[in-house]
Amino acid sequence: MDNKLFGAHYFSLDKPQTFEVDHQQLYFFRTFIGNHDIKVELGDCIYYFDEHLERAEIKKGPCTVSTKHLATVIRGYMHPDASASLEGVTTLPYVNGCSTKQVFPPLRPGDPTLQYLKMPPCSKEQEHHIHSTFRVVLVLKGKGKSIVGMGSGNIETELVPGSVCILEPMCPHHFETYPGEHLEAVPLHIFTSIGAGEKNHPMFNGTVAI
Ligand SMILES: [Fe+2]
Repeated sequence: MDNKLFGAHYFSLDKPQTFEVDHQQLYFFRTFIGNHDIKVELGDCIYYFDEHLERAEIKKGPCTVSTKHLATVIRGYMHPDASASLEGVTTLPYVNGCSTKQVFPPLRPGDPTLQYLKMPPCSKEQEHHIHSTFRVVLVLKGKGKSIVGMGSGNIETELVPGSVCILEPMCPHHFETYPGEHLEAVPLHIFTSIGAGEKNHPMFNGTVAI
């Protein structure tokens, strides 16, 4: 069984690679893994991380950005330039002991958003579920595993700091953690779901249990 059959793609930061969304999808984006110099066109914007993985940044095209870790250019979306610290606690409850904070909340309902997911040890990030839009996830701290597929066709992939996981819309999946270790990851939602309240935010509303 192949992860790609279910719509999951895995990368690590030590190998420069590019992922381009297939042309049947609703929204166009490109993700750059590892070292890249990226030209961002007028009308697009880029979500990326600083050299030390301490801050998340957004820049609106036209511009050129050099990145070492992970960057995603979203076509036809012009979020104003922004910078946010990745420090600090999570602020919104999620499920199974997991929590989140909105690093860059959606400016309008349905806009893209960068979230910060924190999973305690021995947790599952939701039950097995799907989303209606892409997720581009970078693991920052801790270890865990990503489970993709259905029933006997489930495939487990280890997650470590620097793992990048790109999940297509409707890819059935969840993450799990081990005893003794948190997992912290930053999922970028390539367009998302409405909300910012206690139990009304893009992590909750963009998740459909199956
Ligand atoms: Fe998910």
